[in-house]
Amino acid sequence: MTDSSASTDRPDPPRGVVVTGGGTGIGRATAHAFADRGDRVLVVGRSEHTLAETAKGRDGIHVLPVDLADPAAPDAVVETAMREFGRLDVLVNNAATAGFDSLGGLDPAVVRAEVTTNLLAPILLTQRAVEPLAAVGGTVVNISSAGSLGLRAMPGSGVYAATKVGLDALTRTWAVELAPRGIRVVAVAPGLVDTEVAVRAGMPREAYDEFLASMLPRIPSGRVGEPEDIAWWVVTLTEAGGRYANGVVVAVDGALSVT
Ligand SMILES: NC(=O)c1ccc[n+]([C@@H]2O[C@H](COP(=O)([O-])OP(=O)(O)OC[C@H]3O[C@@H](n4cnc5c(N)ncnc54)[C@H](OP(=O)(O)O)[C@@H]3O)[C@@H](O)[C@H]2O)c1
Repeated sequence: MTDSSASTDRPDPPRGVVVTGGGTGIGRATAHAFADRGDRVLVVGRSEHTLAETAKGRDGIHVLPVDLADPAAPDAVVETAMREFGRLDVLVNNAATAGFDSLGGLDPAVVRAEVTTNLLAPILLTQRAVEPLAAVGGTVVNISSAGSLGLRAMPGSGVYAATKVGLDALTRTWAVELAPRGIRVVAVAPGLVDTEVAVRAGMPREAYDEFLASMLPRIPSGRVGEPEDIAWWVVTLTEAGGRYANGVVVAVDGALSVT
């Protein structure tokens, strides 16, 4: 067996990475983890000031304020990455919105935004990214959710769960479709991670803290996750040593989903 990661006289050029939703939470920790290993990172989101916070004090992080629901977003993201980095090695489809509602009480506008951001946007962005990813044998990492793995129901967040189950199906399917082009597609499914995602969806912070505390006894690892717990897995799956992982959805949830 030959080792394709063997060192040569010339160091590898820095990789080009796109992290959607890189202004906050798991996306910010992921952007930092890529930048800290020497990659060049484009963070994408709607809010310019959170993106700027992510980039602050770190070389190699570029920001692109864009709404991924905009039909022009895929071109804008890929063209910016290619202009800034000259290559696209990793696409992390992380941006998402969560909704709290049950069938019968759904707000059509919220449902549309959720499906567009969580499912349609990664589909169209990944399709746009195929050629540059193929040119360097790149990797797509979809951020799923451990709460909707397997045959689980997710009462109160059914539309959100459906978008994540859809992303898991696409992860497997794209892995098979894109393997001949040298592109890998994997997913990381976080468990409960302390971010502002629920607050953004309308839950008061105190109520979210109470929810996290109430879940603690059910998490075998004994704690709620930190964004860095997820970021490590995202980066590691894109490393040369991770090259045999393909089409897999990795749960990173302190064993919550297997209880
Ligand atoms: N935290 C958890 O417990 C947990 C559990 C399972 C899975 N996840 C998944 O982990 C990922 C990151 O979530 P998080 O917890 O870090 O939450 P978060 O802080 O709310 O991150 C979501 C990011 O997506 C961006 N975003 C949302 N809609 C967008 C749009 N239309 N266009 C561009 N950017 C958009 C947001 O930025 P702007 O608002 O500035 O656009 C934000 O930075 C998500 O896929 C989520 O489903 C989280």
